[in-house]
Amino acid sequence: MKKTVLVTGGNGQLGQCIQSIANQFPSLHFLFVDKDILDITNEKDVLDFFEAHHIHWCINCAAYTAVDHAEENQELALQVNVVGARNIANACQRNGSKLIQISTDFVFDGKSSNPYKETDRVNPLGVYGLTKLNGEVEVKKNCPSYFIVRTSWLYSEFGNNFMKTMLRLGSEKTQLSVVNDQIGSPTYAIDLAEALIQIIQLDTDNYGIYHYSNHGQISWFDFAKTIFELTNNDLSLNPILSKDYATLAERPKYSVLDTSKITDEFALKIPFWKDSLANALSKVK
Ligand SMILES: NC(=O)c1ccc[n+]([C@@H]2O[C@H](COP(=O)([O-])OP(=O)(O)OC[C@H]3O[C@@H](n4cnc5c(N)ncnc54)[C@H](OP(=O)(O)O)[C@@H]3O)[C@@H](O)[C@H]2O)c1
Repeated sequence: MKKTVLVTGGNGQLGQCIQSIANQFPSLHFLFVDKDILDITNEKDVLDFFEAHHIHWCINCAAYTAVDHAEENQELALQVNVVGARNIANACQRNGSKLIQISTDFVFDGKSSNPYKETDRVNPLGVYGLTKLNGEVEVKKNCPSYFIVRTSWLYSEFGNNFMKTMLRLGSEKTQLSVVNDQIGSPTYAIDLAEALIQIIQLDTDNYGIYHYSNHGQISWFDFAKTIFELTNNDLSLNPILSKDYATLAERPKYSVLDTSKITDEFALKIPFWKDSLANALSKVK
């Protein structure tokens, strides 16, 4: 029998990445929903949906992801990232579904200089990170069959992301400034989508928190520079400091994730960021 996998936030960036590879996994039956069909903040709708469909796994990609706007829209961020996560976790628990909750490197404050392990102290700097962390807490409290997968710097040919913004700006401008003092690991969302499906296929009971990003660590400036190099764009790029690029939300200075736990547990081969970037760029051309 095919396993049914519900993907919430199915029209977002990660949701679309999962959609784009779903037909490679004929043993899984995917149901993609976004907030027009299933608003995760509505407890009754979520419960009704789970009761109407026999869901084996749920990948909760639905989230309020506007990091700066979250500072001014705290209530909405809380509703989606905390209440929504709780509703999904409750529905999974009541219906015997396993839950993959997607979370973020922004649960950390960036004061470390070593890749963050799953057991490291969390201390979000802004509303987005805090609501995502509280969403994790709700998942752990309400659904024992959970995999919380924290990831970082997602980009792909789908949705809005840094790579696509750089490609657009690169076609409009001759010079650009990009911050050089925030270090992290870009993650091609297709690689993450494949890893999530691998977790589902292995179907273990090793629940818990896992970190997934592409290998390697760079700054946003390095990332932009490589995007322009690989697309033969000779735009003039200036490194700047975060303090000279004002944003509403503070970002962690260092948010590299240690991915050894997920690699070991699920026999994953995680690609190097630059190889995945080249792969992604070949899709947008
Ligand atoms: N993007 C990153 O760099 C990054 C980094 C680390 C972790 N993450 C995490 O990765 C996950 C996926 O991110 P993403 O880049 O795919 O984000 P995204 O493109 O913003 O997708 C989120 C989706 O959730 C939908 N949504 C919002 N409110 C909803 C609601 N009440 N009910 C149901 N759906 C709702 C959004 O719809 P609308 O667009 O119509 O609002 C959107 O389709 C999120 O959990 C995010 O926190 C992302």
